[in-house]
Amino acid sequence: MTSLVYRHPRVYRGVLALLYRDALAQRERFVAAHVPPGSTVVDVCCGDGGIRRRLRGVRYVGVDVSPVFVDALARAGVEAVRLDVAREDPPEGDVVLLLGALYQFLPDADAVVERLRRAARRHVVLAEPHRNLAQSRNPLLRAIARRATDPGVASSTARFDGPTLRALLERHGAREVLETRKELVAVLPGRAS
Ligand SMILES: C[S@@+](CC[C@H](N)C(=O)[O-])C[C@H]1O[C@@H](n2cnc3c(N)ncnc32)[C@H](O)[C@@H]1O
Repeated sequence: MTSLVYRHPRVYRGVLALLYRDALAQRERFVAAHVPPGSTVVDVCCGDGGIRRRLRGVRYVGVDVSPVFVDALARAGVEAVRLDVAREDPPEGDVVLLLGALYQFLPDADAVVERLRRAARRHVVLAEPHRNLAQSRNPLLRAIARRATDPGVASSTARFDGPTLRALLERHGAREVLETRKELVAVLPGRAS
């Protein structure tokens, strides 16, 4: 069942700010630096699409499987598409983003990354936690974290750690990697590279 966090965009943003603190601003600065003005940006698994507020002079398209997020964006006048990226190709863009969402596709995360790279005319910017509450040694914390991130579709309870995430980034030719307290944020080549 879809978790409370994913049923209310405002609750979602509050939880994210609490969990990420300074790492969220670091992620957003890195993403903004890799989105040239005039680009079409496709934000896959966009959630509430918070990153769009950091991007200037772009066409932003949010993509998510959740009708709650897609409908909220559409009501706010933001282009938004509902699809399941585990099975369907997202629309093409100059830059494709996948922020804090890749773990949901384990153990087939590589197939999703390939799909995003094919959709990206320039590059993909990928941000993914290498430290997760869902991997905590404390069983209660672990259970709460896993329950809180249930998007309401088939989704993995597995998570990346530093070595497995770095290995995936290497397999996809990561050009630049920023490490924050919470995440690795990387630029992967798109289809033209
Ligand atoms: C942890 S949130 C990340 C949201 C946003 N990228 C951010 O950083 O704030 C994960 C998002 O992925 C979406 N999602 C989960 N499975 C999906 C799928 N198969 N296809 C498209 N979106 C999916 C969820 O609905 C949720 O909005």
